[in-house]
Amino acid sequence: MVRVGIIGATGYVGGELLRILKIHPSVETIHAFSRKEEGRPVSMIHKNLKNLFDEPFEKYSPNKIADSIDLLFTAVPHGTAMEIVPEILEMGINVIDMSADYRLPPEKFEEWYGIKHKPLSSKFTPVYGLPEIYRKEIKKTKTVAVPGCYATGAILATLPLVRNHAVHPQKIVITAISGTSGAGSRPSEFLHHPEVYNNAKPYSVMSHRHIPEIETVLSDVSKEDVKIGFVPILVPMVRGILTVVNVFPLKEQEGNSFLEMYQDYYSQEPFIRLIIEEEKTVDGSMKRKVGGFPYTANVIGTNFCDISLKNDERTSQTAVISAIDNLVKGAAGQAVQCMNIMLNMKETEGLNKLVGAHPW
Ligand SMILES: NC(=O)c1ccc[n+]([C@@H]2O[C@H](COP(=O)([O-])OP(=O)(O)OC[C@H]3O[C@@H](n4cnc5c(N)ncnc54)[C@H](OP(=O)(O)O)[C@@H]3O)[C@@H](O)[C@H]2O)c1
Repeated sequence: MVRVGIIGATGYVGGELLRILKIHPSVETIHAFSRKEEGRPVSMIHKNLKNLFDEPFEKYSPNKIADSIDLLFTAVPHGTAMEIVPEILEMGINVIDMSADYRLPPEKFEEWYGIKHKPLSSKFTPVYGLPEIYRKEIKKTKTVAVPGCYATGAILATLPLVRNHAVHPQKIVITAISGTSGAGSRPSEFLHHPEVYNNAKPYSVMSHRHIPEIETVLSDVSKEDVKIGFVPILVPMVRGILTVVNVFPLKEQEGNSFLEMYQDYYSQEPFIRLIIEEEKTVDGSMKRKVGGFPYTANVIGTNFCDISLKNDERTSQTAVISAIDNLVKGAAGQAVQCMNIMLNMKETEGLNKLVGAHPW
């Protein structure tokens, strides 16, 4: 059994971690830490947890946790985690960080986030927490940097093609729509209901901070220099990211070889669902084809990433589409998946019972 803690437990990601960890069969105790809500029941902030998590928020103090916690989630803003994480690791406690602080090489972090990076001691190497690529490394590390939500949807959509050198590595055009919970629980003018409802707002066009993350990981996987263009768009929904990736094949496909790359790479992945349907051919046999497309409503509340693709011979391009819940596969669910791997538990534990609702 595992004892866990969450710093930043009042936030949206913290709340989602609480919801998932509460039903995790191997989690024995959960400490929910907050600076501003110490002593108040967790269910006063996360009202969905009424009668399920009524214990109070606790004040975080390093001395308090040394013997009572095996793994800490840091669900705090970027720049904050690097002030807390080194001390926790020195106490022998595993860390899963939800912020951007350990996702990038330090020089890239400084360039894109504009703050000085505080590296960890060389004893600790953070691993990028995307199990579909770095499962072996996650198993061996004590520190995981959970990917950004946009980065998760974009990398998973593009990975099989880039890994197989099937598309132009520097002509990858990504457009993603996101719900407002992606920006966290702090109110702002940009996220104010009258500014968002009945509106679609592009922002950080070609300059979003998840660009270097996506490029670094795809370059690592393909061993060539990958460059992407990225346009994020805020839309009036609360949860979910729908990502559309337009790629340009390097040579003509034989049959539906792109689809086969996705089937091969993701066949054993418990949280990737390829949206495919079968059709009857003239000889009566069943032939697989891509059918339907991912919808955000189908993944909300779950750890699934739904993926589909469509080739267009007329313009020699392929559109790949993925859908995730930004707070689950894009954050808390992915973090629990990493915890399961790090602590040698079944990777799907606590996550395989998260089913969506229809209609949403
Ligand atoms: N929202 C998403 O979809 C998403 C997806 C992937 C990754 N992330 C990342 O996950 C982290 C948390 O995101 P969120 O959406 O949950 O944000 P949030 O709703 O704003 O919550 C962050 C929490 O961190 C705590 N906090 C703030 N400043 C702090 C400080 N200086 N020291 C210690 N604690 C501090 C606050 O809790 P108290 O004041 O109660 O202590 C706050 O509730 C961020 O780094 C974010 O970029 C978010």
